[in-house]
Amino acid sequence: MKKNRDRKAIFITFEGIEGCGKSTQAELLADYFRKQNRKVLLTREPGGPGISEQIRSILLDIDNSEMLAETEMLLYMASRSQHTGEWIIPALESGTNVISDRYYDSSIAYQGAARKINREIIDIIIKYATFGLMPDITFLIDLPAEKGLARIKKEDADRLESESIDFHRKVREGFIRIAREEKKRYIILDGENSIEEIQSEILKKINEYEGRRDETEQSQ
Ligand code: ADP
Ligand code: TYD
Repeated sequence: MKKNRDRKAIFITFEGIEGCGKSTQAELLADYFRKQNRKVLLTREPGGPGISEQIRSILLDIDNSEMLAETEMLLYMASRSQHTGEWIIPALESGTNVISDRYYDSSIAYQGAARKINREIIDIIIKYATFGLMPDITFLIDLPAEKGLARIKKEDADRLESESIDFHRKVREGFIRIAREEKKRYIILDGENSIEEIQSEILKKINEYEGRRDETEQSQ
């Protein structure tokens, strides 16, 4: 895998609690790339290729209430490993931009901050499962837990969405902590703004990022 800064294709991830607007913004951004005739792969975690989608079904099945936190963490990582190796890395290497609705930061927030799995263990397994691939830019759409959950239909709630409000508050705090640790990669957006306002902020940040990258390339 080439180093991030040598690639022309960009790897963008969206993170945040349930209902914060990740899927909405990921789709709008993919449309923006397509309109510019740029190649784009829009994908999600847990999910992507067939094997990862099969693991997703096990993870989100509301009947799997007996699942241990350790099993859950390893299944998210297994799904991610297949996704990264089968889809994301080949796409980036062929010059396709990749937009993923969640990636490894979700494991740090959900399995780490909320389920209390040791961060060092999570970090080691992330490195292994992702082949060391980090996103170029991560957008955290920040929203209070109760506002995000209020946007989701209760009867459709999956295993994770059915967790307590306190669990989702810990997830939100976990994301904010990661964003503070990784200021260069992270952009925090206010999820209470309108869909259009959030989208225009995202486009602005991507244009700034690509402008900086092109300047660096020219000066080398
Ligand atoms: P996520 O993928 O983060 O779970 P979605 O993008 O699916 O969230 O959005 C959840 C719901 O909230 C959808 O009905 C969507 O139309 C709505 N929504 C998304 N962004 C906003 C926003 N900025 N303000 C109000 N509602 C929003
Ligand atoms: P999904 O329906 O995709 O939720 P959303 O629309 O909010 O993205 O379900 C994914 C669920 O899995 C969500 O509750 C977050 C959780 N999750 C983890 O707990 N760990 C992870 O590493 C990932 C990728 C997701």
